[in-house]
Amino acid sequence: SGLNTLAKSIGKLYFGTATDNNELSDTAYRAILNNNAMFGQITPANSMKWDATEPSQGVFTFTNGDTIANLAKTNGQLLRGHNCVWYNQLPSWVSGGKFTTAQLTSIIQNHCGTLVGHFKGQTYAWDVVNEPFNDDGSWRADVFYNTLNTQYVTIAFNAARAADPAAKLYINDYNIEQAGAKATAMQNLIRSLKSAGTPIDGVGLQCHFIVGQVPSTLKSNIQTFASLGVEVALTELDIRMTLPSSTTSLNQQKTDYQTVVSACASVSGCIGITLWDFTDKYSWVPNTFSGQGAACPWDSNLVQKPAYSGIAAAL
Ligand code: G3I
Repeated sequence: SGLNTLAKSIGKLYFGTATDNNELSDTAYRAILNNNAMFGQITPANSMKWDATEPSQGVFTFTNGDTIANLAKTNGQLLRGHNCVWYNQLPSWVSGGKFTTAQLTSIIQNHCGTLVGHFKGQTYAWDVVNEPFNDDGSWRADVFYNTLNTQYVTIAFNAARAADPAAKLYINDYNIEQAGAKATAMQNLIRSLKSAGTPIDGVGLQCHFIVGQVPSTLKSNIQTFASLGVEVALTELDIRMTLPSSTTSLNQQKTDYQTVVSACASVSGCIGITLWDFTDKYSWVPNTFSGQGAACPWDSNLVQKPAYSGIAAAL
């Protein structure tokens, strides 16, 4: 049985994967993607981001996002929206803008409200704010923070809630999987948002890991997040290695995937896991980290790697 079936059998909501519009012309890829026993949830890797959805102010394009949303519906899969507010893949009219607080507030409200509203009733969850922190736990000094201080987070969550009251609203980041300054900053933020009545429902731990370096505090840290009264999801899991891969590195990767998935499996507040694409054929890793790759459980020929059985064993 597939990974989603296994995940559901232990009480998880889904096991899913990222996908991207340009990959959908690959018939062999699609045959795996569309199987909801394997993947019960999908996330568009790019097509719902700000540069893709509002490239010029007030001009919204949802064609590619709609394709992914319709695919999820056809396949009987949950959809995670990704994302409303992020410093990256942000069109220059936003990132380079000089706005008053009132102007940027209304830009965020219009973007999040229109985006989330367009997909109303179609998404299980939204990454409303993505990657707000630097690795040392300080706030990322992007246009949002520089103009509105931390208030932009509340503005975005309120706009998303108003646009689709049924969608779970998440904050999402990387390097918050292990105990440390960045995780602490995120935990403090979640506490303060909740006590202020900001409508936050979940936290996404991206989980872009390196073979042999899965943090030992992952499980306890998932528990810490869950104890704040939010859902936890592993939203972008992959485990990269130095190329070329070897039997040793592929076996270590199997162990690492098993460790990560077991950590989520053993905490009831950890509701689901998403691979940041399931195949090395379409992984973002080699384009970003030169000489690294092989991060996914399926290889570039769409053949399952040892990592696949590591995941299955954990479920
Ligand atoms: O769309 C253009 C295309 O027109 C052009 O011909 C081509 C040439 O380079 O680039 C295309 O854009 C690329 C885009 O993916 C769509 O394929 C960008 O260059 C490329 O930078 C972009 O990479 C994405 C990356 O986010 C950008 O930050 C990856 O696909 C996507 O998987 C990745 O996802 C992020 C999450 O959103 C947040 N967390 C980290 C994660 C990995 O970086």
